[in-house]
Amino acid sequence: MNFVKESLRQNRFWLRIMQEHALFIRLGLPCDETQLIAESEELEQLFHNLRVALKRLPPTEEAVREFNETVINALDRIIDFKTNILNRLITCNLGGSNLPLLIDHVRREAIRFRTILLRLQNNIEVPIAENALQEETFWLRIMGDHMWFISHLLDPSERLLVKQSEQFAENSETLRLQARDLESMEVPQAFENWLLPAKLFGGPLPPGFGELPDAILIPRLGRFNEEVIQAVREIRDFKETALQLVESCQVLSIIPPLLADHVLREAEMALTDLRIVGRKVHRENDKHCPRHR
Ligand SMILES: [Fe+2]
Ligand SMILES: [Fe+2]
Repeated sequence: MNFVKESLRQNRFWLRIMQEHALFIRLGLPCDETQLIAESEELEQLFHNLRVALKRLPPTEEAVREFNETVINALDRIIDFKTNILNRLITCNLGGSNLPLLIDHVRREAIRFRTILLRLQNNIEVPIAENALQEETFWLRIMGDHMWFISHLLDPSERLLVKQSEQFAENSETLRLQARDLESMEVPQAFENWLLPAKLFGGPLPPGFGELPDAILIPRLGRFNEEVIQAVREIRDFKETALQLVESCQVLSIIPPLLADHVLREAEMALTDLRIVGRKVHRENDKHCPRHR
């Protein structure tokens, strides 16, 4: 993996997304929560400044490494902020119009961006079978969430569009269940990891853990990747239509145009990420698995 190129690709996409999350959260806060409003404005500015700095960044390994470190610190701040909002929402200590799942969703996106940068900084390569299932599971959940959010932000009178977005959400969930089936077949270690308390990963694992067989790559995974890409492509097209309808005021909803554009861009990124991992899956399969004769 090319460290500089991949770091720039990730930063170019996710920094803008993080800036917009701060804005979306602020729009859903009650107007008397002045402290949280000020904090969200600060974060929006912080990520805006990082985007400006990124444009001027020399594409050298040293400069990019230092920049990634700055971004990781900014992500720590936005993850804390989202956690604070989410915890107050789910304990009924905050009003406004931010749905808890939306805050969990945007926090998941921040955690993923942070993990990608940490992996790049520490030169951690995830084996291909594991990586493919991670990408597919992550993006399917994100795409499914978007479809639920859209169905909740459309006016209830938009019956057909509400039904269509729910159908897309359900399709994503079916594929996500299938990804979990494939994961325990191919990456048994991931299942064991999931059974351990989350906090245990902070230190060395007790003996006996982490000794299950390595991930294996099977041809079915190539076909699964194509099925996921097809599902995401359909969601992408639906979002494009939604954006056009919102922008031309032809649909009744409380979807801001920027949010429609934001979720469309995330679908484009999902397609790019899934194609990258799909190419690797096909290449590896061609090397190791002879075709059925
Ligand atoms: Fe987002
Ligand atoms: Fe999203």
